[in-house]
Parts: sequence; structure tokens; C-alpha cells
Amino acid sequence: MENNLPVNVREYQELAKKALSKMHYDYINGGAEDEHTLRDNIAAYGRILLRPRVLVDVSNIDMSTSLLGYNMPSPIIVAPTGSHKVANPEGEVATAKAAASCNSLMVLSFSSNCRIEEVAASCDAIRFYQLYVFKKRAVSATLVRRAESSGFKAIVLTVDNPMLGRRERDIRNKMVAPDKPNLEGLISLENLDTTDGSQLAKYVRDTMDPSLSWKDVEWLKSITSLPILVKGILTAEDARKAVEAGAAGVIVSNHGGRQLDYAPATISVLEEVVKAVAGAVPVLVDGGIQRGTDVLKALALGARAVMVGRPVMYGLAARGEAGAKHVIEMLNRELELAMTLCGCRSVAEITRDRVQTEGDRMR
Ligand code: FNR
Repeated sequence: MENNLPVNVREYQELAKKALSKMHYDYINGGAEDEHTLRDNIAAYGRILLRPRVLVDVSNIDMSTSLLGYNMPSPIIVAPTGSHKVANPEGEVATAKAAASCNSLMVLSFSSNCRIEEVAASCDAIRFYQLYVFKKRAVSATLVRRAESSGFKAIVLTVDNPMLGRRERDIRNKMVAPDKPNLEGLISLENLDTTDGSQLAKYVRDTMDPSLSWKDVEWLKSITSLPILVKGILTAEDARKAVEAGAAGVIVSNHGGRQLDYAPATISVLEEVVKAVAGAVPVLVDGGIQRGTDVLKALALGARAVMVGRPVMYGLAARGEAGAKHVIEMLNRELELAMTLCGCRSVAEITRDRVQTEGDRMR
């Protein structure tokens, strides 16, 4: 096996499919309803072409960048994804170690199986904490405090989940997380009313607050001094609102096609959001990134960094911590090669003219 490692994300996906039960593979891989957005997140990258420049001295490539003042060796971040014990018994601790060994920033999901403190203690790294706002605000406030005192550097507030999208594969499979509810990190919290082995949809209905609004961003700001990135923005209008509300960053995301089906592919609206934000805060994007060239395209269209969800989960499912690490390393090496062949020596040189979008071709 070690001599025959997968050579790309898609091969990891195949291994993950073999390693997991259908229910758990479908949970990771699936999307909402017709899965149009899920497919289009990937397909939209295929519609963008690269415009390489040649005879640039590319003997040294520098992929480093920074986010909220933190230096990163590469713009690739591990997206928050829930229930890593679905993929591997070591759960988020394995993923955190994999990310840390690549010096990659990881966003820990609110729906992690491992406790916040356990992940924090497992290895030294810069991490952000992803938050959903509960009906019981005190639960979310407690989690923010725990993340703060565990050394997390920012809160990623996910705003595209007032209710769970209709994930028909999970409905068909009667998806349940392994063992207990997939929220081990939370069940120690007082009075939290979870139903043993309940379906994810029921859990979310019982706990998430569909009345969440922009004023809750104010509330969150009032209870933490950590910077807040708003995840789940798809329009210029909301991007401007996020900046007005005091967000330290905007993440263009459709939750990997798991929430609103027929929401646009994220890469197709990135530029609209970047223009609206006008440099006030960094813009990140996730959804459908499977190649270094995808990362390059996102950066050319104005993203400061990208987040990668399923590919890391596939690595984790296929080969545990080593697999997750290998996926991150592979994407980093692919980005380095893409930059080399496009004549971009640094992320600053990944400019808009390095890509040709469908819109460009119609002009
Ligand atoms: C997610 N995503 C997610 N987002 C979030 O804010 N909190 C969460 O708990 C989860 N959980 C989750 C579980 C699984 C299995 C997946 C696949 C995704 C969405 C995630 O952060 C990200 O937006 C997408 O995964 C990006 O798309 P790709 O990279 O998976 O195509």
C-alpha cells in the first residue's frame, strides 16, 4: 500500500468509498436534493482556463500568505467538517495532527466528535473554531469561551444552516453518526437536549436557531474578542452586510452543496463578492477544490485562501492521519507546480489575467 499511494484526490475518494459503509460514505460525499450544486462546485472549475506566462524565472516558488496576521506556508486551509469519527476512530485529533504536520491552518467544526480541548492539546498549531448558533445562546457562548481558552484564534460563523438542507442520501440511509450523537464535544454541556442516535436532521431541527439574523453577529462580537469570519456568503449584498456587521473575513461557501441546491457554484460568484468587499477584509472560498490548479484559479479571482473539506475527509477515511496529511501535501505540491507552469512565483503574482472565465469568453 505505502508503495502504491494514491496520486490525486479522486483516487483517495475511491479508497474512501471502499473503506467506509455506504451510509458513512454517502454522508461525506453527498449533497442536497438533486445534488446540482454539489456537481457544479466541481464542474465550474473545469470551465475556467489558465493563461500561463512563460520564460519567467520560476526556480523559486513562494506559496506563503497570511490571514488575520497569521503567516501560512500555503493558502490551503482545512475546512470545518463534522463527525470525523465517521471516517476514522481517531476523529478530529488525527486531522488536526495531519494539518499541523503540514503547518496548515485547520478550522475545527462545531460538530466535531472530539472535544475542543482534546484537539487543542493534541498538537501545536494555529486553529480557528467554527460555530453554529444554538437556540440556547448560552450553549454557543460556552463553546466560544472554550475555544478561546483553548487557544483558537478566530471564530468561523456558519450562516447557511438555519435548517439542515435536504440530504436525500442521508434520509434514505437513515443516517446516524457512529456510537452516540456526533457531538461528543457538547454533551457534557448542561441541559443539552440531544436524542440518542438521532438523525442529523432531527438534531439540527431541535437545536439550531432559524431566527438567526445579522444582529446575532453583533451579539457574537459582544461576547468574544476573537475575529469573526462569516461562512456561507454567496452574494455581493450579503458580503457588504458582513463587512458592515464587523466581520473580519468573508467565506464564499455553499456548504459543499449540502444546503440549498441550485445555489451557484462558489467559484462562479467569488469575483462578485471580492468586488463588493473591495479589500476591506479577506475573502476565502470553499467547495469543489480538488486540484492545485483549482486553488490557483480561486486566488486569481481574488481569494486570499481556500478551504478544502471532503478531500481531507477522504484521506482520513482511506489512511487515517497519514492519508489526511498526504492529501494536504499533494494539494500543496500541485499548487506549487501550477504556479511554476503558470509563471507565478508568489501568490501576489497570481493575478486576474492568469485565468479566463466563461464570462471573459463571452465578452
Ligand atoms: C461539511 N461542512 C460543514 N461546514 C460547517 O460550517 N460546519 C460543519 O460542521 C460542516 N460539516 C460538514 C461535514 C461534511 C461531511 C462535509 C462534506 C462538509 C461544509 C464544509 O465546511 C465546506 O464548506 C465544504 O465541505 C466545502 O466543499 P468541499 O471541499 O467538500 O467540496
